[in-house]
Amino acid sequence: MNDRTATLSFSDGSPSATFPVLPGTVGPDVIDIRSLYSKTGKFTYDPGFMSTAACSSAITYIDGDKGELLYRGYPIEDLAVNCDFLEVCHLLLYGELPDAMQKEDFAGRVIKHTMVNEQMQFFMRGFRRDAHPMAVLTGLVGAMSAFYPDSINLNDAHQRDISAIRLIAKMPTLVAMAYKYSVGQPYMYPRNELSYAANFMRMMFATPCEDYRVNDVLVRALDRIFILHADHEQNASTSTVRLCASSGTNPFAAIAAGVACLWGPAHGGANEAALNMLYDIQAQGGVARVGEFIARVKDKNSTVRLMGFGHRVYKNYDPRAKLMRETCHEVLEALGLHDDPLFKLAMALEKIAVEDDYFVQRKLYPNVDFYSGIVQKAIGIPVSLFTAIFALARTVGWIAQLNEMITDPEYKIGRPRQLFTGATRRSVKPIGDR
Ligand code: CMC
Repeated sequence: MNDRTATLSFSDGSPSATFPVLPGTVGPDVIDIRSLYSKTGKFTYDPGFMSTAACSSAITYIDGDKGELLYRGYPIEDLAVNCDFLEVCHLLLYGELPDAMQKEDFAGRVIKHTMVNEQMQFFMRGFRRDAHPMAVLTGLVGAMSAFYPDSINLNDAHQRDISAIRLIAKMPTLVAMAYKYSVGQPYMYPRNELSYAANFMRMMFATPCEDYRVNDVLVRALDRIFILHADHEQNASTSTVRLCASSGTNPFAAIAAGVACLWGPAHGGANEAALNMLYDIQAQGGVARVGEFIARVKDKNSTVRLMGFGHRVYKNYDPRAKLMRETCHEVLEALGLHDDPLFKLAMALEKIAVEDDYFVQRKLYPNVDFYSGIVQKAIGIPVSLFTAIFALARTVGWIAQLNEMITDPEYKIGRPRQLFTGATRRSVKPIGDR
């Protein structure tokens, strides 16, 4: 039995208050402060959730100091090598890896839903051709609630499951449509005999007049990108999905909120920003200018950051970055691009940064986005689509977390409190006296 407590005392003589300490299966304990306000009349103040667990979860565990990432207990390295993305989806959604029959059944259910309502393409026509794919995707995912109103009841487990399958199945179709629209090519319908990743690549790169020959190394690389991005516990977009869904809104609307949050350069937009950064350094002289660039990053008066470096939770090498670097080697080798100047530049940057005092002291290491852009570029994915690929992969994580929240007996609508610093009560003066 756990009967550990933490006692909070005050320097102003207010009575102290005691709270339960809750253990997890692994990782830091948490102090259960739900009764703090009723016991003390005070709130906690924690902008950015630096020390706050907003929920309990059994899905993903990160040990940031060790650089460890587990999905349902399985190390990411193990999953990346031994499973495909749909197996990982099954694991995240239902808690266990599928056996052969379960895998066939799950893949069959996903495959049946890869097409989108034909009206979607007319909806798409409302967007400017040069719209950012993330702007388009936010709209398309939100619009799914209008196209699939038979699976929008968040409180119905069956409808939740159908919407989960629909989202996982249709995201590749929607992302590929957003791409085709931006380049003015006809949409390619899904081909369900292909694997999840191969189907996506064909929808992206085939045209009605020329089929796309799937390269197995590239398919494996993309599948690995999907696995590595599938979930990452309570990050900004996942917390957004949870908060949004906590009001009881429909799953498509909640996932659209996640897509919108992911877009930011401090989160999913970092892969695009990291590659653009490499292009910029390349344009200014490449490896020879790395020292100068690092000096700008370290300058207190500059806002330049080394994109693809640093993480709120990892204070060690992001395990996904190691796997991504390995994939990067494989892909460049398979395409005969071992001398790729951007990859060389990235390795030079990494080498200098991980040995530099500034980065060492702040525990800044490469994160997943440092190498994923180079891999995606080699596959032929345009830079502006990188974050949409991240969204495609993260959709399953968002859904798993949303389902976990809805079925948690302790779940409540998310409603943070505040430390108010504005004006106290005052009266409106007549306009002439203001
Ligand atoms: N380059 C240079 N300095 C950095 C960087 C960086 N990439 N990241 C953090 N720092 C410095 C920062 O200036 C601060 O220094 P000081 O203490 O002297 O003021 C210190 O390190 C702590 O930074 P912070 O911004 O307080 O840390 P955070 O935990 O709030 O931010 C982060 C985490 C990921 C937003 C940040 O590291 C960052 O902006 N990295 C670049 C963007 C990026 O690659 N994001 C992808 C994250 S992984 C994909 C995902 O999960 O979405």
